[in-house]
Amino acid sequence: MTFDAITPDRVPALLRAMPKAELHIHIEGSLEPELIFRLAQRNGIALPYPSVAALRAAYAFTDLQSFLDVYYAGASVLVCEDDFFDMGMAYFARAAADRVVHAELFFDPQTHTGRGVAFATVIGGLSRACAQATAAYGIDASLIMCFLRHLSEAAAFATLEQALPYRDNFIGVGLDSGERGNPPEKFARVFARCGELGLHRVAHAGEEGPPAYIEAALDVLHAERIDHGVRCTEDPALVARLARDRVPLTVCPLSNVKLCVYPDLAHHPLARLLDAGIRATVNSDDPAYFGGYVSQNFVDAFAALPLTARDAYTLARNGFEASFATDDRKRGWVGQLDAVFA
Ligand code: ADE
Ligand code: ZN
Repeated sequence: MTFDAITPDRVPALLRAMPKAELHIHIEGSLEPELIFRLAQRNGIALPYPSVAALRAAYAFTDLQSFLDVYYAGASVLVCEDDFFDMGMAYFARAAADRVVHAELFFDPQTHTGRGVAFATVIGGLSRACAQATAAYGIDASLIMCFLRHLSEAAAFATLEQALPYRDNFIGVGLDSGERGNPPEKFARVFARCGELGLHRVAHAGEEGPPAYIEAALDVLHAERIDHGVRCTEDPALVARLARDRVPLTVCPLSNVKLCVYPDLAHHPLARLLDAGIRATVNSDDPAYFGGYVSQNFVDAFAALPLTARDAYTLARNGFEASFATDDRKRGWVGQLDAVFA
């Protein structure tokens, strides 16, 4: 690869054109206000906002919890299998435009089963959307089921039980929702059981929670990737460990600014993480709420930080290598990536 020949003015176009893996996208976080209103109307649900504009105006978050309150309210319009399918396809249309070729989608079943929506409805619609993503866009897509960490261990076990008849419809489990006060240890036994079942394990850690939560996600939950993980920068020994062990971090720059983890992108540690040798990837988290899909995350982060064409290649390649796809598939996508930078 001859990165030095790529002038900085060419980088934004390359960021948009390069094939990508998206490893940190909450599918419920891709619900655009227009679709929320359409589904609310279709299902006869009254929203506490008079218009799309009023809903969008509520997207002024001060921290993770202030976002989660709006995010869970938005998800309440999802009732039928077609709602989940339509949400998935709306995301895949955006992902295809961003040259996403592989996506591992988080979904939050408890957000829906807690309102009386059957697990089968949720996974049925999302599984159909993943299959259609391949047929319509050539996107390879799979599902990761997240446990809500503000709920109990017993609730997580009950969700796992509901999911087992659909074991082949998802590739792994994750841990999301309010991090503060909900340490990884709370879910040690659930994650151990998931490991026995052969499921991949990932966990949000070090978004708002302290570096110790990242260590616990690795040591107690045996997470293979850390979602966010940006607060590792507060612990140099942890940074060294993550770099040494090549632990992937699924970083979401626009999310971190929207949720006030950093005051702006210029203060974001993405470039420092790469410099430290950490296997960072770039992702969108909840793109409908945070101001952009994955390409926008790349373009905005590169505009604000000292990142180069070589870093663009590294980040995209990290995404493929950190994915749970087969080595064969990974090699194919890295080949496509090489061709863009050749
Ligand atoms: N659920 C959806 N987005 C999330 C985030 N950024 N952190 C934790 N839980 C989430
Ligand atoms: Zn997330």
